[in-house]
Amino acid sequence: MDLPTIARALHVLGVVVWIGGVGFVTLVLVPALRRSVPAADRLKLFEMMEGRFATLARFSTLLVGATGLWMAWTYDLWAGFIDPARWWLAAMVVVWAIFTLMLFVLEPFVLHRRFHARAARDPEGTFALIQRVHLVLLALSLLTVAGAVLGVHGGL
Ligand code: HEM
Repeated sequence: MDLPTIARALHVLGVVVWIGGVGFVTLVLVPALRRSVPAADRLKLFEMMEGRFATLARFSTLLVGATGLWMAWTYDLWAGFIDPARWWLAAMVVVWAIFTLMLFVLEPFVLHRRFHARAARDPEGTFALIQRVHLVLLALSLLTVAGAVLGVHGGL
């Protein structure tokens, strides 16, 4: 097996762990917390569980970015990133950039503090907002995964 093929397998494994986790947080964890946990305990539980996933997500984003760049370089795909017919290539970079910004900059330095203050004032509204943001990111990610697989295998 050649190295770019191994990079592709690692790329997809990283995507599975990362986007699968986003799916779990969005469709299972946040709705369960909103339904079954009293508002006063919600934030603590959410941060404990999502905090563990965030570490995994940070590692996966790095792996996906590194293997993606390596494939782009090996297959010389740079022109594809600005070709509308191969929109899924640019979509991958956009999804990656949004999550990287959230995980490495916004969450630790900005959102964490704001989120605490807002959740203390309005726990219901804050968790509804968290769910909406996660839903949008999940939809965008799944659309990108579908586009990438169809695009790479000639389905588009
Ligand atoms: C900096 C970020 C990224 C770069 C540079 C990148 C680059 C690439 C490249 C070059 C390929 C191979 C394309 C080909 O063979 O024609 C690929 C495949 C793929 N990427 Fe990414 N990617 C990135 C992020 C992502 C993200 C965030 C996702 C998921 C949301 C994703 C999902 C996939 C999938 C599912 C494939 C198809 C694998 C296959 O079926 O062979 N990538 N990526």
